[in-house]
Amino acid sequence: MHEQTASSADAIASLAVKGGVAVSPQTIPIIKVDITDDDIEAAVAVLRSGMLAQGPRVAEFEERFAALTGARHAIACANGTCALQLAYELLIEPGDEVLCPAWTYIATASMLVARGAKPIFVDADPETYCIDLEDARRKITPRTTAIATTLIYGNPVDMEGVENLAVEHELSVIHDAAQAHLATFGGRGIGAFGDCATYSFYPTKNMTCGEGGMVTTNDDDLASRIRAFRSHGETEKYLHTSIGYNYRMTDVEGAMGASQLKRLANVTAQRRRNASRLTEMVSGIEGLVAPRTTPGGEHVFHLYAIRLDLDRFSCTRDEFIDALRAEGVACAVHYPRSLTRQPAFEAYVTEHLPVSDHLARALFCVPVHHALEGGQLDFVGAALAKVADAYRI
Ligand SMILES: Cc1ncc(COP(=O)(O)O)c(C=O)c1O
Repeated sequence: MHEQTASSADAIASLAVKGGVAVSPQTIPIIKVDITDDDIEAAVAVLRSGMLAQGPRVAEFEERFAALTGARHAIACANGTCALQLAYELLIEPGDEVLCPAWTYIATASMLVARGAKPIFVDADPETYCIDLEDARRKITPRTTAIATTLIYGNPVDMEGVENLAVEHELSVIHDAAQAHLATFGGRGIGAFGDCATYSFYPTKNMTCGEGGMVTTNDDDLASRIRAFRSHGETEKYLHTSIGYNYRMTDVEGAMGASQLKRLANVTAQRRRNASRLTEMVSGIEGLVAPRTTPGGEHVFHLYAIRLDLDRFSCTRDEFIDALRAEGVACAVHYPRSLTRQPAFEAYVTEHLPVSDHLARALFCVPVHHALEGGQLDFVGAALAKVADAYRI
């Protein structure tokens, strides 16, 4: 049990959560959904045209997205979950074992189950939080046909390592880049890697069109089959050469997406600058660990996740973020549990994974979005230091 000294008792009493004065007079939001007049005009023009379903604006969005991500083809769809389903449907067969991170959003794994495949949960790398390739290698069996990875928080996975493993074991590769638009590895866009990469345009993401998703691929044949599958297997008007779904994106969303893409590079650059400033401040606070970018990768900081060295503090992560929120800093937990702890996957879990379980207890996210002002970042740093100093053992 931690013995409180008089000075640590004073520091705790000065916290806003205990009745002290907050660092920031107003709450600094964790996200900023940024819809400009240009985005609105682009959407309204489609509404006025009366041609709402998938059409020229989606085609334009796809073309620009492919170019920006370094892929030959981009196929838009209704959301990031559908994007995963499109990729999995064409690359994975029912009964296949697929390596899948335990440290990711549920859709990366749940859509494998929807495909009839068996997710084989792999632990996270303790530094980058992406899939641990050594653990992945250990879990390969003759039934393993694919590896799914997530570019978690916007951090690229070790693309070379994944490629080597895939070549060695003849695995298909699907990168879930829902959080990682414009991330690069070795200077190349994410769309240049693997069989497919998938993206989401949900409102909290680095860019949005309301709801929306995209699949990128460099394989011409795969691209045609994904396009058909997106729209009832239709290859010519009312000619259905395979079974498919309606996963199309509307032209209203396509217009917004194409408009948002124009400023995505600037938005991403600002997120990176904010992350650098946060890292400068976090590195000076004992017991807090700043995010680490995978060597060779360029992070896009969809989220800025700080790891608490739990042994250094007298509080839990949740008490720490309650105190931060009271200081005026909005925080989020991505994610409160590893996928092996989700009841939905009970039938697929043979073991729990120590790093992922630890991250579920130790990580929290603070604001990093492009609309933060310099002063707000300083408040975040000051609030982190105040709470850490109060609770440090
Ligand atoms: C890693 C990851 N995969 C998939 C998705 C699903 O995307 P959507 O919400 O657009 O269906 C998300 C969205 O939160 C995500 O973060």
